[in-house]
Amino acid sequence: MFMKKQPQVTTNRLSLADLVTLGNKAKDIVSGVRESLLQPDFVKPAPTFTVQQLGWFCGLEDKDVLARARKGDLPGANEPEPGKKRRMYSLETLRVWTQAVLSENLRPEGADAIVIGVCNFKGGVSKTTTAVALAQGLSLRGHKVLIIDQDPQASATTLMGVEGVDDDDTLLPLCYGTQTSAGYAIRKTYWDGIDIIPASLSLYGAEFALPGRQKSEANFEFWNVLSYALDDVRQNYDVIVIDTSPALSYLTINAMLAADGLVIPVPPNNLDFISSSQFFSLFNDVAGGLVTERGKAKEFDFVNILLSRVDYNSASSSAVREWISGAYGDKLLPVEIPETSATKSASATFGTVYDIAPSDINTKTYRRAFDAYERFTELIESQVMMAWQRQLNDFKRVSLQSQEK
Ligand SMILES: Nc1ncnc2c1ncn2[C@@H]1O[C@H](COP(=O)(O)OP(=O)(O)O)[C@@H](O)[C@H]1O
Ligand SMILES: [Mg+2]
Repeated sequence: MFMKKQPQVTTNRLSLADLVTLGNKAKDIVSGVRESLLQPDFVKPAPTFTVQQLGWFCGLEDKDVLARARKGDLPGANEPEPGKKRRMYSLETLRVWTQAVLSENLRPEGADAIVIGVCNFKGGVSKTTTAVALAQGLSLRGHKVLIIDQDPQASATTLMGVEGVDDDDTLLPLCYGTQTSAGYAIRKTYWDGIDIIPASLSLYGAEFALPGRQKSEANFEFWNVLSYALDDVRQNYDVIVIDTSPALSYLTINAMLAADGLVIPVPPNNLDFISSSQFFSLFNDVAGGLVTERGKAKEFDFVNILLSRVDYNSASSSAVREWISGAYGDKLLPVEIPETSATKSASATFGTVYDIAPSDINTKTYRRAFDAYERFTELIESQVMMAWQRQLNDFKRVSLQSQEK
C-alpha cells in the first residue's frame, strides 16, 4: 500500500543555552581575528602620509611642502621606517599642517561644537562607515572630533580600535542618571584628533532606563538627556558625530534632538528608499510633541540625504536614484558614495578608506572611494562653518537682549 512519506523529525531542537554557546563560539573567532589583525600590542596603527598626500590635504605643491618644512615653521617627515625608503608624515604632523594652512575653516572663537547625527532606522545602509569616515575626514582638515557610539552593536567603537568597554564606559550611566555630564565616558583613540564615547552590548539597557525614569521622576525629559550632557564638552570639540542604532529608540531620539545637523545615508534601492520615506514622519510622530530645544521648537541647521553604497552595475539603482532626487530635492547631497571593494576591504581590517594606504589596493578603486568621501566631508564642513556663524549670531542676540533688560 502507498504510504505517505512522513517528514523526518529532527531531534536537534535548540535551547537558548545552545544559542549562547553558538554566540560564544562566534565571539571567540572574532576576538581571534581581531588579535591577529591588531598584533602585537593591540594598538591600531594610525595612517602615515607621503609628501604628495600631505600636499593634497593642504592644497599645496610637494615642493612648497618641502620648502616650508625645511624653513622649520611647520614640522617635517619622520625618518624612514626600518627596511623602507620613504620618509612619511605622521597623522599628528598632517593635522598641524592643515590647521595652519586651512586655518580659515577652523571653529571661530566663541562657537561651540556642531553636533551631527548620522541616522536611518534601517541597518546596513552605511551609517557607521559614514560616521567614522566623516570624523576622520574632518580631523584630517584639522578639526577635533568626538564620536558618540549609540549602537549597542558597537561597530563605530570597533572601527575606532577601542576594546574592553565596560557598561560604565558607555552612555548608560547618563541614562540611569548616575552621571549628568558626558565627560566621564570620553576616551582617546588611535587617531589623533578623534575621541570617542564607546558603546557596548549593555547599552540596550538605555531603552528601559529612560522610559523608567520618565515615569518615576518629576520634570524628567528623557529626550534631552544627551543634549544637556554635552553642554560641558561642546567647547572642547569642533564637531560631535553621533552614530545611531537602526531603530527609533529612546537614544536615537536623544541624538536627533541634540543634533544641529542630520546625515541620512540611503542606498539607491526600493526598500531602502521606502523605509527612508517613513523616517521623517515617524520621527515627527514620536518627537514632534516633545518640548524640544529646551523650550523652543526644534530646528536643524542642515538635513542631508546621502546616497550611499551606490552600485553602478545594478539596473534598478539609476531609477531609484531619480526617485530619491525627486523626493528630497536640495536635501540630497551632490555626491554619491559608491559601493566599492576599497570600503569592503578596509572594513575587513576594521577600518575605513582613510585607514588604508593607496598602495594597498587597486589605485582606481581607492581613488573613487577616497574622492567621494573627501567631497562629502567638504560639503559637511561648509555647512558646519555656516552653523558656527549662526551660533555666533544667536549668542550675540541673546547677549544684546539681556543687556536691554
Ligand atoms: N561604500 C561602501 N562600499 C562597500 N561596502 C560598504 C560601503 N559602505 C558600507 N559598506 C559595508 O556595508 C556594511 C554595513 O555598513 P555599516 O556602515 O555598518 O552600516 P550601518 O551602520 O547602517 O548598519 C558593512 O559591512 C560595511 O563595510
Ligand atoms: Mg551601524
